[in-house]
Amino acid sequence: MADTESNAAGGSLEIKDSRTGTSYTVPIMPPATEGDTAIRAMDLRPIKANKEEFGLMTYDPAFMNTASCKSAITFIDGDKGILRYRGYPIEQLAEKASFLEVAWLLRNGELPTQPQYNDWTHQITYHTYVHENIKTFLQGFRYDAHPMSMLCSTVAAMSSFYPNAKNIQDPAERDISIVRLLAKLPTLAAFCFRHVKGLPFIYPDNDLGYVENFLSMVARMTEPKYEGNPIFVKALEVLFILHADHEQNCSTNAVRAVGSSHVDPFSAVAAGIAALYGPLHGGANEQVLHMIKEIGDIKNVPAFIEGVKGGKGNKLMGFGHRVYKSYDPRARIVKKLADEVFKVVGVDKDLEIALELERIALSDDYFVSRKLYPNVDFYTGLIYRSMAFPTDFFTVLFAVARTAGWLSQWEEMLNDKEQKIARPRQIYTGYGERAYAGSLSYDMTKSSKKDAVRK
Ligand code: CMC
Repeated sequence: MADTESNAAGGSLEIKDSRTGTSYTVPIMPPATEGDTAIRAMDLRPIKANKEEFGLMTYDPAFMNTASCKSAITFIDGDKGILRYRGYPIEQLAEKASFLEVAWLLRNGELPTQPQYNDWTHQITYHTYVHENIKTFLQGFRYDAHPMSMLCSTVAAMSSFYPNAKNIQDPAERDISIVRLLAKLPTLAAFCFRHVKGLPFIYPDNDLGYVENFLSMVARMTEPKYEGNPIFVKALEVLFILHADHEQNCSTNAVRAVGSSHVDPFSAVAAGIAALYGPLHGGANEQVLHMIKEIGDIKNVPAFIEGVKGGKGNKLMGFGHRVYKSYDPRARIVKKLADEVFKVVGVDKDLEIALELERIALSDDYFVSRKLYPNVDFYTGLIYRSMAFPTDFFTVLFAVARTAGWLSQWEEMLNDKEQKIARPRQIYTGYGERAYAGSLSYDMTKSSKKDAVRK
């Protein structure tokens, strides 16, 4: 077994296989920046009960304790409630940076210089328009199509508009694809919104900033020039920053896994959008609002909480996180942001229900003992709704922001010499070999359903 890393780390694992009595030395990888350590799963492969055996694997459904990559982009300490992009605390970025600055930082590892930022902003602004055929494509969706289905399909369709995007090893193609995706996502998202509303599509206004332009494409009616409410523009900018990346979450893992086949980035990002759509991931912000609607009145909150604890199938949506076990630092920022937005739009009964849910859950032993705290999605839905976004559009907003992280992670994966096509192992639990004993009679040249006849 290669031992170079164990020397650097000064550590190794001694494993004795009780089946054979053989001892193995497994090197421990050198601690990374924040002390993360691991062993290489492939170093377990030589451990076998006999020569014919495949070798020892690790079994880790849902990747509870498996690092799938090395990454220098985002750091999370779930116990301490820390989130940093490229070393910068999320609180500082949310307060001081713009979303496009953060998108640059995520991709490039450093904050942009002024000329770099100006050029980056110019490029992204320049590419906000989408091919006119996209409008025809969108018209094919039903009036009540879920905007996440529309966005996912439309982003996938974009790869057919940019066939050269498949040349992922060409740095120029990679650059332009990244710019196109970041630039066009708000346009596509806004077009999905307008389609569902039956409103005409609004073209990008390249005099406006990234977030204000997005709001313009969503909300503009007859006014010749859109002017967003500055509090809403700032709130959305911060929410985009908070959602921009979150290391190896379900959708990022999907983008990396699909991208590892070396497909074009439009297809890989479409896979990320599909993963984000699920109610256990980005879809949770939408579910929080459905849950509050179901509760209906503040007086029903205790009974709802009891139902959750009794395992009646309901979860407290917007609570809990795979990684954060003390608090979600994004939720703190969002709560503060919500206070600012609600000063403008006023407090309604849904917010009162949310506050009561939070108050009871944070003092209830069921939630405290399981370390279930409000996550980022608990309050974002309320903010989005107060800005007049429909519930089923919330996850689309998340997707627009997360595109920055997906693309940075995708490119990091491509540049990582250790990465190959993602292909997990399995532990086969089905039948052993058995002989085929089928007894159906059918004509293989015809529809098998129609002609299958059981003797
Ligand atoms: N409400 C009630 N009980 C819960 C909840 C919840 N929201 N979340 C977890 N639990 C319970 C769970 O039933 C289990 O209890 P027990 O030990 O008695 O079986 C225990 O807490 C541990 O839960 P888990 O399912 O093992 O935790 P996980 O790390 O696999 O799941 C989660 C994380 C986020 C999927 C889960 O907490 C959840 O479903 N939360 C609600 C959905 C949600 O808000 N998702 C957004 C996540 S943040 C945005 C993002 O990154 O996508």
